[in-house]
Amino acid sequence: MSTTALTNVRPYGEDATTVLIRNGVIAQVGPDVDVSDADEVKDCGGLVLLPGLVDMHVHLREPGREDTETIATGSDAAAKGGFTAVFTMANTNPVIDQPFIADGVWDKGQAYGKCDVYPVGSISKNLEGKELTEIGLMSRGHVRMFSDDGRCVNDPQLMRRAIEYAKAYDVVLAQHAEDHRMTAHSVAHEGEQAARLGLTGWPRVAEESVVARDLIMTRDYGGRYHLCHASTAGTVELLRWAKAQGIEITAEVTPHHLLLTDELLATYDGNYRVNPPLREHEDAVALRDALLEGIVDVVATDHAPHGSEDKCVEFDHAKPGMLGLETSLAAIHQVFVESGLADWRFVAKVMSERPAEILRLADQGRPIAAGEPANLTLVNPNDPWTARGADMASKASNTPYEGMEFSARVVATWLRGTPTYTNI
Ligand code: DOR
Ligand code: ZN
Repeated sequence: MSTTALTNVRPYGEDATTVLIRNGVIAQVGPDVDVSDADEVKDCGGLVLLPGLVDMHVHLREPGREDTETIATGSDAAAKGGFTAVFTMANTNPVIDQPFIADGVWDKGQAYGKCDVYPVGSISKNLEGKELTEIGLMSRGHVRMFSDDGRCVNDPQLMRRAIEYAKAYDVVLAQHAEDHRMTAHSVAHEGEQAARLGLTGWPRVAEESVVARDLIMTRDYGGRYHLCHASTAGTVELLRWAKAQGIEITAEVTPHHLLLTDELLATYDGNYRVNPPLREHEDAVALRDALLEGIVDVVATDHAPHGSEDKCVEFDHAKPGMLGLETSLAAIHQVFVESGLADWRFVAKVMSERPAEILRLADQGRPIAAGEPANLTLVNPNDPWTARGADMASKASNTPYEGMEFSARVVATWLRGTPTYTNI
């Protein structure tokens, strides 16, 4: 029996209290909890305690690109960022399109033990958009979500079949919405900035047309449709329409689409290349409002590590993708809490409770209360730090926040009562 007492912590940024963790479970919460039999008593000095964060969308690159990230280094980055569960996308090499590949990812994550790493299965074999994978077989193992992320399921007939299978097996289908015929050779948001810089544009309609089609398919065929990385104001309008009709869809937004815009492309720095691309200020504002209103459900990082040989090159040749796990909480704090737009309850909702609910994780995103699993994150809201790619636990260093200062910092993370990261 191991017992840890966290004294003087503020769950959800509210009143200071004591949280007693025993054998991986929250045993007691309250200002007068007796800590005399605890093996360890940590005075947390009024820091904020949140349920462990859950990220529906990361790329841990294993198998295939272990030179850029592994399940182990990705788990380290996740724990350092406050996450206790992540969903790693299927666009690995080989693609996660068969049960044994998915099992391998899950087993490695569990063996390392710093974060629950859920494999996402691909919708189409080898992400080719032609033939469906064995959704049923994979869903019997550890796969709860299917996605061709990195690629869009453009073929409407394949999408219809995928929706029907996903519905039959009661799993989430996550779409990367991009009409590839409209985005061939695109590297930036199609707008004034791309025109000025001479970069090939990726128009909003390439996303919105797919979103519109998928929402209508979900209306007619049902299922648990989830939209990856919503990036435009028009997508927000479509989601608003769908939710008003009672169509049960969910959507995510990345910290970078909330915080950054295509103005940054003037540097021609490959670290700002991402798919979907950074858009304009009005899009970022619409996405922030949508998250506040619940039109967009969750924040997901789309953590996408790449080596410097693929990032420190001409903008046109840079691979799309940005690190996100170690900066996400700080970025969301800056946009919503520091600005006064929302409180820590909101952060817990969009970064832990809602993602756990969407993926039906029984042990994540739970209230900080007696009897609940001790998946927890301790945050110092006022500990200024500067983001540096070189300091990250991730194997890669392609952060778009290089040199940016943030106030909030993750201080410790516990997975089922075991510390997975600590910096107290
Ligand atoms: O920027 C991106 N990078 N977007 C994606 O959809 C895929 C990802 C990757 O795998 O690098
Ligand atoms: Zn992705």
